[in-house]
Amino acid sequence: MKAIAVLPGKPNSMHLREVPKPKVSDIPNGRGVLVKVLRVGVDGTDKEINAAEYGAAPQGYDYLITGHESFGIVEEVGPNVVELKPGDYVVATVRRPGHSIYDQIGTYDMTTDDMYYERGINLRHGFLAEYYVDDPEYIVKFPRGLKEVGVLLEPTTVVEKGIAQAYEIQRRLRVWRPRRAAVMGAGTIGLLATLALRLRGLEVVTLGRTPKPYLNSELIEALGARYESTADLPIVESAKKYGPFDIIFEATGASAVVFESMQALGKNGVLVLSSVTGGNKSIEIPADKINLEFVLGNKVTVGTVNANREYFEMGVKDLAHAEAEYRGWLRRLLTHPVKGLENYQELLNKLTTAKGAIKVFCEVAEL
Ligand SMILES: NC(=O)c1ccc[n+]([C@@H]2O[C@H](COP(=O)([O-])OP(=O)(O)OC[C@H]3O[C@@H](n4cnc5c(N)ncnc54)[C@H](OP(=O)(O)O)[C@@H]3O)[C@@H](O)[C@H]2O)c1
Repeated sequence: MKAIAVLPGKPNSMHLREVPKPKVSDIPNGRGVLVKVLRVGVDGTDKEINAAEYGAAPQGYDYLITGHESFGIVEEVGPNVVELKPGDYVVATVRRPGHSIYDQIGTYDMTTDDMYYERGINLRHGFLAEYYVDDPEYIVKFPRGLKEVGVLLEPTTVVEKGIAQAYEIQRRLRVWRPRRAAVMGAGTIGLLATLALRLRGLEVVTLGRTPKPYLNSELIEALGARYESTADLPIVESAKKYGPFDIIFEATGASAVVFESMQALGKNGVLVLSSVTGGNKSIEIPADKINLEFVLGNKVTVGTVNANREYFEMGVKDLAHAEAEYRGWLRRLLTHPVKGLENYQELLNKLTTAKGAIKVFCEVAEL
């Protein structure tokens, strides 16, 4: 079968290759699920893997099949699979368990291991292929009626985990009735965070750099949230106008924004950090002021990465809720489709250069 792969360690090595088709029997104990891949989304991580900044091949291979945002249909199941059946639409989780105690209880997204096993990213082949096989433990059923937007589930789980963690942490307050939220960044993750917070009934202001109107600001306003450009209203000013915020979800990719966000957070508030910042930028910050306000205001900052099955299941519910509440909104995020695995170069070009791209994805097969 065809697959898109890279040679880890070699920049710009993305290529199409012929690889063996996986079999249900590749998974032990009759628990294999063979999935025909329909769509796969790409994001900044795929760009970094192709630039050889990240990523490792599975043991015994010199290549890594990329792609971690999957959507597919079950084609065949092993004799001991009861959870799924042929014809089910599904999305696979990305991380696979390591060895820490967190891995052993199913919360592999909270691993304390130094080594991550992630399909399409590190040490495990991904989904940019015609088929994959896995254990049903890592495959989540997706509603048939939402199949057009199934490829958005994996990015949604980033947001689901961050927000669920925030609510979990805030149980320290005995009573927490968050009203105002800010989302830093209006890219794919920022848009989905805005959606998830609106679905929970919060007033939301989302900040990006681009002045409105443009597609992302329109999408944010279509949810009944506000969009502000930091060019017009710096973050700390936005807190004076719309805050203080009970919850802030940071997804800009710019670490400096974290420290501005700390100053925009209200008393007892929680700041969720999701940006993966690979650089080595240094900045000057008003450290005494930020620290004092955190101490006196009982504030929390939490980092969040990856998602386990639980957050995929939450994501399914939120996407269904979103379609009921804001019909057609999710489909507007699917801005840049690319037909066929053989057009991987176009996929890469759209990912790296397309203006206004929200979700670039490969249509591997007809839905
Ligand atoms: N933790 C996880 O598991 C996980 C998973 C996936 C992604 N992420 C991270 O999530 C972040 C967002 O991803 P994405 O795909 O949504 O990125 P994106 O599409 O590049 O969007 C970034 C957004 O942030 C805004 N922005 C950038 N710098 C800013 C600044 N200095 N001040 C205000 N706004 C700023 C951009 O505004 P303009 O476009 O107007 O410039 C844009 O709206 C990335 O850092 C990525 O690493 C984390």
